[in-house]
Amino acid sequence: MKVAATDSAVNISPVPDTWQRRHLLGLEALSKEDILTLLHTAVELKAATGGCKDKLSILSGKTVANMFFENSTRTRNSFSLAARRLGADTVEFSASSSSLSKGETLIDTAKTIEAMNVDAMVVRHSTPGSPHLLSQNVGCSILNAGDGPHEHPTQGMLDIMTIYEQRGSLEGLTVAMVGDITYSRTARSNIWGLKKLGAHVIVCGPSTLVSKAWEEFGVEVSHSLDDIIPRCDVLNLLRIQFERQYTRPFPSVREYAFLYGMNKRRMEQAKDDILIMAPGPINRGVEITPDVADGPHSVILHQVTNGIAVRMAALYLTTTANQREG
Ligand code: CP
Repeated sequence: MKVAATDSAVNISPVPDTWQRRHLLGLEALSKEDILTLLHTAVELKAATGGCKDKLSILSGKTVANMFFENSTRTRNSFSLAARRLGADTVEFSASSSSLSKGETLIDTAKTIEAMNVDAMVVRHSTPGSPHLLSQNVGCSILNAGDGPHEHPTQGMLDIMTIYEQRGSLEGLTVAMVGDITYSRTARSNIWGLKKLGAHVIVCGPSTLVSKAWEEFGVEVSHSLDDIIPRCDVLNLLRIQFERQYTRPFPSVREYAFLYGMNKRRMEQAKDDILIMAPGPINRGVEITPDVADGPHSVILHQVTNGIAVRMAALYLTTTANQREG
């Protein structure tokens, strides 16, 4: 059965029978077809909302709870906007002011919010697997908004969407993720998604943050940004996640910036049409200099806008699949 979404002014394509996912927990488990469904739905919803600005009512009557146990600027606000752009109500759960401090467990907290007739829960948590655990304990859709260093599937998809918009295809492109690969959920989700769409992926950074073991996942490992730059179609510059590290992985931030920061000198070695991306938040002067972050090759703010499109698609597809199962 295909479920078509109609709005007073626009018709959104029916959710294809091949999309059977009530939850979005990571890109590792998704097929190429699932990833393309997410991508094409995001592109369609971005167009149907005038570039993520206008409102539709395809999620009218539904409620989306934002459950963030870690800080966020981009993901939290864009999920919230995505839900409201599609006509859903939102619940903004705040861990710091919740009854977690009185001893309530994560599962009891989720069940409590679900009992307020919530259709989807967007979960960010520092513990890998938390969204998976909740998906086994509640009936509503669970969308992973970042679980520790494990996965950040909507970030991976919005990065893919941004490249797709600029290049029309991922097939055959060389995409490098630079920086803190070990602790990056963004790197993992990008790797799963990019590989399935035919991109060549390079992970680049100091050996303390980029192990040779990554080659097992079919990606190229490099410890020299200068060596790989001329081959890259896309550079995705990751923040060093000091908050997840027990020891400092390099002698100084200054040394890291010298070896792995993208700057004007390195831009001169890059392809003329290179795309400069960053999941954010960016640390200016560390992984990227301000002139590059704000320069003509940067699509960092396009990534932010596409975050709304991808999150609209994820909410639409997962809640429709949940409804389909009855
Ligand atoms: N990229 C990203 O996840 O940003 P936030 O932490 O601001 O959500």
